[in-house]
Amino acid sequence: MTSTLVTNIGELTTNDPELGRLTDAALVFTDRVEWVGPASAAPAADKRVDVAGRAVLPGWVDSHTHLVFAGDRTAEFEARMAGQAYAAGGIAVTVDATRSASDQELTANLRRLVAEAVAQGTTTVETKTGYGLTVADEVRSARIAAADVDEVTFLGAHLVPPGADADEYVALVIGEMLDAVAPHVRWADVFCERGAFDADQSRAVLEAARAKGLGLRVHGNQLGEGPGVRLAVELGAASVDHCTYLSAADVDALAHSSTVATLLPACDLSTRQSLPPARELLDAGATVALAGNCNPGSSYTTSMAYCITTAVLQMRMTVEEAVTAATLNGAKALQRTDVGHLSPGARADVHVLDAPSTTHLAYRPGVPLTHAVWRAGLRQR
Ligand code: NIG
Repeated sequence: MTSTLVTNIGELTTNDPELGRLTDAALVFTDRVEWVGPASAAPAADKRVDVAGRAVLPGWVDSHTHLVFAGDRTAEFEARMAGQAYAAGGIAVTVDATRSASDQELTANLRRLVAEAVAQGTTTVETKTGYGLTVADEVRSARIAAADVDEVTFLGAHLVPPGADADEYVALVIGEMLDAVAPHVRWADVFCERGAFDADQSRAVLEAARAKGLGLRVHGNQLGEGPGVRLAVELGAASVDHCTYLSAADVDALAHSSTVATLLPACDLSTRQSLPPARELLDAGATVALAGNCNPGSSYTTSMAYCITTAVLQMRMTVEEAVTAATLNGAKALQRTDVGHLSPGARADVHVLDAPSTTHLAYRPGVPLTHAVWRAGLRQR
């Protein structure tokens, strides 16, 4: 495979524990990273790209999105901006639109959003089912997602469909629906929240998914304090996502676990919630990831840069912490060791900023800073 030398890198964020952050650096890759070091010592390669002092870092790992959907919820957003509260029930509007859409429409919408994300430096995407909520519609969503996205999560337990009995619906999710969807997905998730699934229902979903060999993720503590975080930690989930309202015990539980706390600040802003207590989590020693949560209801953005800017300007994270959270720790939330860093051997997911350092992600809020992107060594932009 063709090798590419990226040289004249002003600042290279490797996320490698030994290499750290280098200045005046170079990088050689094929589909994998082959070599990293000082520009003066770079080996020859088939192609040479001079990035003229720009910053280079791993592609974003967006570990939480909901991209299999149809329609949008502009009216709900407008009502929210006029003072109405966000509630889980809005999901049903997207369920109706998604069930009515063709496979081609769902695939086209998903590809549009993935392309939008990649153009902004995202090279790994997780996405979920959860707008189907029947056996056939959940399988269809999983199949469509798996055709285009790295990591797929079963979220049949997103909402009890309007009119359904909650216990009967949970029995369907952990029985026939799980059996049918499991072959298409790596993960299972549950929306453990007031208005969605309570602790017992969530535990039933997660235990059934684990017995089926799926990894676990949880939507928890989005709209208020609740049992989601502690359930996720107890069951060894890879990640608990949202974490907007945490008690001291929740922070402590996360700090003493391997469960990643995945924060979704674009969602908190779009739903007019508080921002998550990132500083408390980091200071306690928890692993914090940042993700975009792109979906038509609570967070209609594919911009990881926006999440980083918010994390730094409003959540008291340092730029380095925020960049790590959006790359290496996103990979940890997906239990991936091949992405989120630029150590030799990693997948060649390379993001060049039109800026001399990652500081500009917060210093120049709202400015599109992606200059070039390679995914597995292939130029995307
Ligand atoms: O992560 N919280 C649950 N699910 C999505 C929202 C989905 C929707 O409102 O359509 C979220 O925010």
